[in-house]
Amino acid sequence: MFLLYPAGDDESLRGAYVRTIIRQCTETILQSQGIDISKYEISFLESSLQKRMNENGCDSAEEYCALLERDRKECTTFVDALQISYSLFFRNPLTCAVLERMVLPAVALQRKSSRRHEIRVWSAACAGGEEAYSLAILLEELVAGKENIAYRIFATDQSDVQIDKARSGEYAATALNNLTLKRAGEWFTRRGDTCTVRSELQKHIEFSTFDLFSDGIGCPPASIFGDFDLVVCANLLFYYQEPFRDTILAKIGHCLTAGGYLVTGETERDIVMRHRYQELYPQSAIFTRSTP
Ligand SMILES: C[S@@+](CC[C@H](N)C(=O)[O-])C[C@H]1O[C@@H](n2cnc3c(N)ncnc32)[C@H](O)[C@@H]1O
Repeated sequence: MFLLYPAGDDESLRGAYVRTIIRQCTETILQSQGIDISKYEISFLESSLQKRMNENGCDSAEEYCALLERDRKECTTFVDALQISYSLFFRNPLTCAVLERMVLPAVALQRKSSRRHEIRVWSAACAGGEEAYSLAILLEELVAGKENIAYRIFATDQSDVQIDKARSGEYAATALNNLTLKRAGEWFTRRGDTCTVRSELQKHIEFSTFDLFSDGIGCPPASIFGDFDLVVCANLLFYYQEPFRDTILAKIGHCLTAGGYLVTGETERDIVMRHRYQELYPQSAIFTRSTP
């Protein structure tokens, strides 16, 4: 999807035009809202801008820029439109299968033979909680009936709204379509069209608000010391420009225990492989870190 560009299809001219328009919108939003959106990927800002133009029936980018300048409400709507919180239970089937069969059993063995008998997991942009609950189901099934091994999941997101939703553990019944009937029946209670996560799962998860760009804070405060065996940071990196992806990956690297695993979204694999991470199994989006 391309921003309306009035002067033909010269790619370099189009690129320069898009950057100018985005810079103008960024400045307007910074002045109006005090929010800096310049950290987002240009292509993401461009498609968001195009959507807002369409919604407002604007024929040109200039017309939309003028609207932003005079209408604070549209500035808020634009910023809100950048908060993509789409998520699914067991979102990437291959990643989940490798986690279930290879990674989590290996982590459990490692933990049992070490001094810390607790598996520590961080879901670093958990949105409405689907990711954290999916991990909890896998871990619960792994440790069920086993002594001497426990797990704890710290699930964070920058959005209070998403964290409240995650804490409530309530989902539309259709949200469970990715779960087997057995798992849906075992871990959720259904009332009409709403399903609620069972407290046996919830008690292992600590939800809290945490911005991955918060200055000076390495790991989520709720976890106190990080030391995670597994960090899931999925479907978030690609929204940000390179230096901001680097900041997030540095933060995560700092919180991973030696030999720990990082999980991303499937379309973010290339980003991570440029950062001293090696993919555990082809296409799995699960990584270990090579030693420096
Ligand atoms: C598309 S959702 C991905 C949810 C889940 N990880 C998944 O893969 O299904 C992206 C989430 O990242 C969160 N997010 C974006 N920027 C963030 C930041 N700087 N710190 C923490 N969370 C952030 C958003 O609030 C949103 O809930």
